[in-house]
Amino acid sequence: MEIKKGFLWGGSTAANQYEGAYLADGKGLSIADVEMGSEHGVPREIHDEVKEGKYYPSHEGVDFYHRYKEDIALFAEMGFTCFRLSINWPRIFPNGDEETPNEAGLAFYDKVFDELLKYGIEPVVTLSHYETPLYLVHKYGSWRSRELIPFFKKFCEVVFKRYKNKVKYWLTFNEINETLNQKQPYHQAGIVFKDEQENRIQTKFIACHNMFVASAKAVIIGHEINPDFKIGCMLQYPTTYPATCEPEDVFAARLHLLPDYYCSDVMCYGYYSNTCTALQKRWGGHVEVSDKDAEILLKGKVDFISFSYYFSSTAHINEEGNLVVKNDNPYLKRTDWDWPIDPLGLRIGLNELYDRYQLPLFIVENGLGAIDKVEMDGSIQDDYRIDYLASHIEAMKDAIMIDDVDVMGYACWGPIDIISVGTGEMRKRYGFIYVDKDDDGNGTLQRKKKKSFDWYKKVIKTNGADT
Ligand code: BG6
Repeated sequence: MEIKKGFLWGGSTAANQYEGAYLADGKGLSIADVEMGSEHGVPREIHDEVKEGKYYPSHEGVDFYHRYKEDIALFAEMGFTCFRLSINWPRIFPNGDEETPNEAGLAFYDKVFDELLKYGIEPVVTLSHYETPLYLVHKYGSWRSRELIPFFKKFCEVVFKRYKNKVKYWLTFNEINETLNQKQPYHQAGIVFKDEQENRIQTKFIACHNMFVASAKAVIIGHEINPDFKIGCMLQYPTTYPATCEPEDVFAARLHLLPDYYCSDVMCYGYYSNTCTALQKRWGGHVEVSDKDAEILLKGKVDFISFSYYFSSTAHINEEGNLVVKNDNPYLKRTDWDWPIDPLGLRIGLNELYDRYQLPLFIVENGLGAIDKVEMDGSIQDDYRIDYLASHIEAMKDAIMIDDVDVMGYACWGPIDIISVGTGEMRKRYGFIYVDKDDDGNGTLQRKKKKSFDWYKKVIKTNGADT
């Protein structure tokens, strides 16, 4: 197989990390707007409300809201054929449960999509990328509650109808599998565990089920509104190796992937597979699927799988019989944030997902978060970023050309420096475009091309031939 003509090349962002303007034009608060910044290894502090005198990185982001024209012109200069962004849910429904949407919010995305289309850039839109309206968390307990399903469906219906002639590619929930993997799935499902008595495992399974049904309903209604829509799920894919060739460790690597397949099985097959029911048993949870829900899940299967890939892990069963997952593979170098660098892991992940589902794959996040230095002459020589991305693109090409995996696009994470989700930092930079802003929010927000800017332009121009 060759890299197809029309292969989507571009970059990915999320509203809460990029837009800023957190209260502009009637926007309500999202879960991101009460999350403070931190640093590597320190969890971000989450508040119930915005507190006076505290710094919340999402409030300004890097001001895409007011600078979208300048940024999109730069993406166009690099030759992007796609650009992934999310619609900030509380920009459209400030509390999440209103009857009518906020017209000013809808008008903003009209302007953004028009600007992208002007340059022939295909928008790829995530419907929920860590931007659940905060009000839904306080009033309903977020995705613990089935009551969010109709609110999400309505939000999707409104944006599908509004942008049906501007947007073709949609993703439902960003990294939905992290709902099971995270100790506290705040970003993914708006869930903070405060009550010691709450059965956390069960809550995560229920939140996932509610999101699966919501996603399936979105797929169904999206296809009714425009049969040409392509609607995908979005996973974080954690390629995992056994720490040794001991059979227990080989099995451990499989165990580590089960929560991820749990989500993709339901969204791609349309039902809870044996992998899913076995995981429920293993973890001691249970999901009762009504006939009605079963019908919706089957009807609302996704058209493709999008995923993020940053690094691989190793798995091991310790002497107590517990699964231990680490990022300390001795064969791999690591980034400034201790993430192993493993391009072959991307090829392995592509093969594993394609073998299992036989659905087109879209790499919608991949990249290197690094500290960039502005030289005396103002240049940014980010060769390390070029090396990382080039090796991963080469691995993707091998998956396409040698392994015959069907890949529809590559959109690396953060083509312009934006706020980090893990830490809220600015200094963890992924971009081809540098943004003058520091971790405390100081800076002019001025944009500047890095060395990697021209490199990526060349990659796209040659359809990936020249990395
Ligand atoms: C993914 C998220 O998990 O990783 C993005 O979908 C996030 O929102 C990206 O930004 C990189 O993580 P971080 O912590 O480096 O921003």
